[in-house]
Amino acid sequence: MKGLFITFEGPDGSGKTTQINLLNNYLTKCGYDVILTREPGGTKISEKIREVILNPENKGMSPICEALLYAAARAQHVYEVIIPALNSGKIVICDRFTDSSVVYQGYARGLGEDLVENINHYATLGIEPNITFLLNLPAEIGIKRKKESKTLDRLEQESIIFHEKVCEGYNRLKNRHKRIFEIDAAMEADKIHSIIIEKIKNIL
Ligand code: TYD
Repeated sequence: MKGLFITFEGPDGSGKTTQINLLNNYLTKCGYDVILTREPGGTKISEKIREVILNPENKGMSPICEALLYAAARAQHVYEVIIPALNSGKIVICDRFTDSSVVYQGYARGLGEDLVENINHYATLGIEPNITFLLNLPAEIGIKRKKESKTLDRLEQESIIFHEKVCEGYNRLKNRHKRIFEIDAAMEADKIHSIIIEKIKNIL
């Protein structure tokens, strides 16, 4: 594929949105054609699935149902948005992708990282990001940041133990793929942005 596929990962409250917006501004100013998107979501159908997944009323959802819904939303997103954009040479920046499922459903929910990666292999038609920025942060700092900023969704309302597992899961994930570039998310936003730019310049 002609384009470049960049994903951002990290525990809740790791500051992905800020960094994604900064990178989007930078690349757009440089003249690149950039698409900004997110998971779960990014298409009409996937946004509907997102509402079901994140609705705090759906507390009884089974882990496998959750994993399949994330994968279903992703399948539509890949088919309708990501592959066409990459084929036409665009840069796609995606807020979370398969790695989130591997960590949240595979490790934190206990389904197994390999199983979840396999399910997602079908959903994504095997496409993988060119680079993944992992904004890493201890669980308690991330959740504190989130609580200060908005009403919590179903996943964010999970116990601190669940979020600690998510952080553990990200620490396992970083060794799983060479494309993953870890950054300490406790640093100042400007500093993180300049590290990301340096890395991206080497890839473009
Ligand atoms: P969102 O509001 O997008 O959170 P954030 O701003 O932290 O990215 O909600 C997405 C939630 O869904 C978040 O808690 C992570 C979780 N998630 C999974 O559990 N599995 C997945 O595959 C994805 C994409 C997200």
